[in-house]
Amino acid sequence: MRIVTPGSVLRTWTPDDAGSLVRHANNPRIAAVMRDGFPSPYTPADACRFIETAMDTTSHLYLAIDVRGEAVGGIGIQPLADIKRRTAEIGYWLSESFWGRGIVTGAVRSLVPVAFERFEIVRLEAGVFSTNPASMRVLEKCGFTREAVHRMAVTKNGATLDEVVYVRFAGDAG
Ligand SMILES: CC(C)(COP(=O)(O)OP(=O)(O)OC[C@H]1O[C@@H](n2cnc3c(N)ncnc32)[C@H](O)[C@@H]1OP(=O)(O)O)[C@@H](O)C(=O)NCCC(=O)NCCS
Repeated sequence: MRIVTPGSVLRTWTPDDAGSLVRHANNPRIAAVMRDGFPSPYTPADACRFIETAMDTTSHLYLAIDVRGEAVGGIGIQPLADIKRRTAEIGYWLSESFWGRGIVTGAVRSLVPVAFERFEIVRLEAGVFSTNPASMRVLEKCGFTREAVHRMAVTKNGATLDEVVYVRFAGDAG
């Protein structure tokens, strides 16, 4: 898959991306606002394991954010299961050296319609730590609505924090 966005190309991960994945993902400032599945330090073995999962696109869609031929971040859609099967989660991260250029806003905007087309979902949600205003701003710029604050719902690096839930529904404008 290949989606051209204003600041990057979203494309399938390949084993050749392992080196750049480690280079850009191995950053405790990124890991601090991600789930524990995004490790710190981020090792070559972590990169290979992730790429293997990402290359299996049957039940989810995990794409590399490619800037000038290099994977400098990731964006993914993960449909939920059971009674939540018409909901998917969206998640993303970008190498710190590329922050503040509108790259993830462009990526999220471009991926939202693809997510609603590809999966039988009606609801796309993102859970953002209360310490991450940049990610909230990205979602707001992309037409997501702040739906709820789940108080003291996440524990990261020894701190228990609120999680802010953002949502977009199929057919929403923005
Ligand atoms: C959050 C993240 C994805 C943003 O990516 P990006 O490409 O830099 O985002 P954009 O440039 O498209 O937009 C960032 C917006 O946040 C704003 N912003 C940045 N830091 C901010 C802060 N401390 N407080 C408020 N807004 C902030 C920017 O000004 C910009 O908004 P604007 O266009 O209205 O000025 C990136 O910083 C990142 O990878 N962070 C670590 C991982 C992460 O947070 N993942 C998401 C977990 S929910």
